[in-house]
Amino acid sequence: MRFPENFVQEVVERTDIEELIGKYVTLKRTGSNLVGRCPFHSEKTPSFSVSPAKRMFFCFGCHAGGSAITFVQKMENLDFPDAVEFLANRAGLPLPKESESNLQNQGVSRKRVLEMNLEAAKFFRACLFDKDLGKEGMKYFQGDRKMSLATIKHFGLGYAPDSFNLLTDHMHRLGYKDEELIAACLCGKSQKTGRAYDYFRNRVMFPIIDPSGNIVAFGGRVMDDSKPKYLNSSDTPAFKKSKHLFALNFAKNCCAEKMILCEGYMDVIALHAAGFEYAVATLGTAITPDHARVFSKYTQKVIISYDADEAGQNAANKAMRILGEVGMEVRVLKLSSAKDPDEYIQKFGADRFRQALEQSRTGFDHKADRILAKYDLSVGAEKIKASNDLCTLIAEYWSSVEREVYLAQVSKILELPVEVLKNSVEHIRSKQSKEYAAKQSREAQATLKNFGDRINPEAVKDPRAAAAEESVLGLMLLREEYRSAVASGEIPLAASDFVTDFHRRIFESVLKMHQSELGFRFELLGADFSPDEMGRIEKMEVSRQELSENGPAVFRSAVSVLQEASKKKSLENSDLNTRLAYLREKKAKLHKGKVDQK
Ligand code: CTP
Ligand code: MN
Repeated sequence: MRFPENFVQEVVERTDIEELIGKYVTLKRTGSNLVGRCPFHSEKTPSFSVSPAKRMFFCFGCHAGGSAITFVQKMENLDFPDAVEFLANRAGLPLPKESESNLQNQGVSRKRVLEMNLEAAKFFRACLFDKDLGKEGMKYFQGDRKMSLATIKHFGLGYAPDSFNLLTDHMHRLGYKDEELIAACLCGKSQKTGRAYDYFRNRVMFPIIDPSGNIVAFGGRVMDDSKPKYLNSSDTPAFKKSKHLFALNFAKNCCAEKMILCEGYMDVIALHAAGFEYAVATLGTAITPDHARVFSKYTQKVIISYDADEAGQNAANKAMRILGEVGMEVRVLKLSSAKDPDEYIQKFGADRFRQALEQSRTGFDHKADRILAKYDLSVGAEKIKASNDLCTLIAEYWSSVEREVYLAQVSKILELPVEVLKNSVEHIRSKQSKEYAAKQSREAQATLKNFGDRINPEAVKDPRAAAAEESVLGLMLLREEYRSAVASGEIPLAASDFVTDFHRRIFESVLKMHQSELGFRFELLGADFSPDEMGRIEKMEVSRQELSENGPAVFRSAVSVLQEASKKKSLENSDLNTRLAYLREKKAKLHKGKVDQK
């Protein structure tokens, strides 16, 4: 581990978990816990709970859980040491000296990548503003894209020269090594020599800046029709494409009420320049649930303003669903006579765009229009199809008020009685809920048999033993007395009694920590287990806690189930005589049991 255990412990103790998580999730107090909507999966009713007393969080929906460190790991996409560092900085705790120097030798940290990105951004910018080097880039921005100098500076735009080594050499001079530059995705690695070379060449450069002002990545565009049009940084220790939004660093200051979501960098820049500083874009990917949660952190309403083509409109449908799932109010803006917001602003100006924005429509109207555009309502057969499609659309809405409103609307358009349409909607809904129930029960059965358990794939081989292991571990996590009983040998239980590897690893870690100077500390498990694994470990403890019977008899019986299972497993690999001896012993025990009962 990079940090000493007592330092990690101090960081956790100095972190107010309620305040930390409260920055990301709206929490309400219920008794000694706090509850809110889980930031790790989409949900409408809160199943995410934080216990300030235990310094833990747990989601009863998706089973994410762990300490403040686990939370930061998941939320900020950091590894364990970086999350500890994040919390230490937050709490104003200086990092222990020795580990700081260690840090340089192990992998490349997020901090280091951010430093490199900042230097690279300065370099790209200097190139753009260089009279010779940046001529083409400047001509592209100002001439072709009609950007003002102020806009270019505001977004920190730059130019990557047409060279394989200018940036690399510059970064070497600043003391950065090949491996670091490659890890930061500023350089590619030559197949022949293994050396680093400039990744972005002859492209205009867009730095991607996170809400705290860190440059986390770059996008680079060619200045002609060559391919690929855009080249983006891959994910690095400082960047996860599926989470970041372009220009959120500016938009976050003026988006309390609404934000505009576009497809491209250029759209966002044109909108900001025209005064719509609450526009953002995803980074060359479709919108993800992670993005949706970012939106819900900053704003109430999202107006989707995608490209006018078929692909853009299909993407808008998807975005509506994903944003709707986190409870956002969503509007859609469909522009006519321009392919995207950038072109629209260039052609018609900011005022016309503002008018269009005011006329942006609800998701339902937008989808209904797309359905109606497909059919000729004067033809009977087509009208039936349109009616089916529209009823299917209405059936998707959970609120009966919404369904009533849309039914009335559709009834007018199709000139069909509301009652008829309503029957059809209810029919679709009941069919869907039956299908859903069937699917749920199939999934429940699969889980029962532990099929598809990613975290503990071995559980499927012996579900009974795996369940006993969970009870044993849950109780050991819950109570000191069980850890002591096992450690002292009072209850004979060894790592080799465990059937599944995942559970054995937990057992070993818990026991080792129990015997260490500091004693058992839940949050320190995070150094050996991934955030997903941490959630599973906490689930074992939480599920035990919810049971009323956690006494020594329960513990002993779970231990004996486990020992039985492991004996059986070891017998499978042993010779015939040992197996026969085992069967005789078992039979004798059974007989004794019967005698005892009499
Ligand atoms: N994109 C990408 N890689 C590509 C093409 C597109 O990452 N090869 C992403 C970029 O983030 C781009 C967005 O998808 O901004 C939208 O693509 P497109 O509409 O083609 O680009 P515009 O931003 O409209 O760029 P321009 O106006 O310069 O053509
Ligand atoms: Mn465009």
